[in-house]
Amino acid sequence: MCGIIGIVGTSSVQERLVESLKRLEYRGYDSAGVAGFAVDGVERRRAAGKLKNLEDVLAVEPLTATVGIGHTRWATHGPPTKGNAHPHRAGRVTLVHNGIIENFAELKATLKAEGRVFETDTDTEVVAQLLDRELSGKPPAEALKSTLDQVRGAFALAVMIDGEPDMLMGARRGPPLVVGYGKGEMFLGSDALAVGPFTNRIAYLEDGDFVVIDHNSAKVFDAEGHPAQRAVQTVPQSATLMEKGNYRHFMEKEIHDQPEGCQRTIAAYVDTLTGHAAFPGGIDFATLERIQIVGCGTAYYAGMLGKYLIERLADLPVDVEVASEFRYREPSLHAGSLVIAMSQSGETADTLAALRYCQAKGMKSAAVVNAVGSTMAREVDVVWPIHCGVEIGVASTKAFTAQVSVLAALAVAAARARGRIDSAEEQRLVRVMLEAPRLMAEAALAEDAIRKLVPELARARDVLYLGRGAMFPLALEGALKLKEISYIHAEGYAAGELKHGPIALIDEATPTIVIAPSDPLMEKTLANMSEVAARGGPIILVTDAEGAKHAAPGMKVIIGPACDPFIAPLVYAPPIQLLAYHVAVHKGADVDQPRNLAKSVTVE
Ligand code: M6R
Repeated sequence: MCGIIGIVGTSSVQERLVESLKRLEYRGYDSAGVAGFAVDGVERRRAAGKLKNLEDVLAVEPLTATVGIGHTRWATHGPPTKGNAHPHRAGRVTLVHNGIIENFAELKATLKAEGRVFETDTDTEVVAQLLDRELSGKPPAEALKSTLDQVRGAFALAVMIDGEPDMLMGARRGPPLVVGYGKGEMFLGSDALAVGPFTNRIAYLEDGDFVVIDHNSAKVFDAEGHPAQRAVQTVPQSATLMEKGNYRHFMEKEIHDQPEGCQRTIAAYVDTLTGHAAFPGGIDFATLERIQIVGCGTAYYAGMLGKYLIERLADLPVDVEVASEFRYREPSLHAGSLVIAMSQSGETADTLAALRYCQAKGMKSAAVVNAVGSTMAREVDVVWPIHCGVEIGVASTKAFTAQVSVLAALAVAAARARGRIDSAEEQRLVRVMLEAPRLMAEAALAEDAIRKLVPELARARDVLYLGRGAMFPLALEGALKLKEISYIHAEGYAAGELKHGPIALIDEATPTIVIAPSDPLMEKTLANMSEVAARGGPIILVTDAEGAKHAAPGMKVIIGPACDPFIAPLVYAPPIQLLAYHVAVHKGADVDQPRNLAKSVTVE
């Protein structure tokens, strides 16, 4: 969603606010703004559109402040205009906000009735107005507490109060907020990345906390207003690094990072010496009755893949559901089940809510996350990090293959614990997994062949992706990648479902991408491919050398390496991602910041 930064500094903050906002832009990029304390009052600069527009404004009207706040917005209430851009001001209050104030309409009505005048369409302005009202007769921290007591919703805030030029306040309920500890300087930020250029000493606020920072200290209070201690941690450099290297886009880099990333992931969950899957966390897979996986978008598809792998290998029932639907349909759950929250960010509001729903039913919980300091990671019984490094591209790539790697290792560990495979088979599967990074790198070598197919694909209005078995979730993921970054309508289907409806869509202008590396299901998928070909639909077949022999003359083929079907979803992910990436580049789309999207969706 939105990104927040606050700096209580000793030198000019403008450059550092902007540097931080560049790092936060992946969270939202509809508009941006900064504010700070000048000698004669608060100075504020805002601009609609990308951060570059704000930089242009600042070049003409720089900030002089050494204490200030900044924001990059993903609009929820009100269009992305300059007027709706944060920071918002009301009386003595200037603030930035990430999240949603659910009861903003009723609060606004009350405040209006009291004679307060609103300038924006945002829910955020209500908080500014309310806090300004509470400030009369109360010290800032007390006024903030009484404001927080009146608002409902999920939010993180950074606040400046006129007349308190050496202090900032922050609060979180839902979305994360970190406190950064510098030397004579203190910071507030949406994540470790935001404050990464300034400090690696960070305290993660707990849900409901609010905080007052000055040059040297942070006073944290819990939701009841009691003083609280939050441990200061030194975060690893990898959590604060953000480099594109020689790549044009983060997404491109992250696709090519995957072999190395997956190697790290797999090494964390298998013992490379003994060849056993060493799954940490003390979950007894032998007696576990069921697994419930919840996630959104790409993380959900990774979970689907997990279901295919775990059920087949370990005979352990796995339910997978999009987190946004899960809790509202009041699912029937068993206390003996394990819930696994799949999430790159560990902050997705729907996934977090689904996780908490399961916990409230007495289920043990685990999180497969990239952000180990995230809310999900802190709230579960067991954290299984994916170890793929910070992912910046809004379109998730390396987190997907890392999530699948974790679940593949879990499938092996569970199968062994349940006696479904013997030690020799476990060792064979571990060897197969250890082969995956090399084969993923080999599969990415198809990039030149992929580029040649791009112009035709980029002209399409609709594209179908077909796959069977574990290639079905990959087809869904391929379609999601294409639609989110190239804005081409794409749908993934189980290949066998084609004739039950989608085949009606086939015509000469609708390409079908068939993902079918050699496995026991390949021939069935190829039969479905023939049904498309018979109706004049253009086909791109993604397969290995053996599968390519089945391609009709003139059919477009992307050839990857032959591999064990167990790791085929990992091996064939890079070509599928590269296809979407190059189509988007060909169309001139903003690959790392696709329209309307945000990396971390911390509202429902
Ligand atoms: O951070 P999360 O993994 O929980 O995010 C879930 C989805 O929002 C995310 O995967 C989204 O679908 C991506 N844009 C997909 O590329």
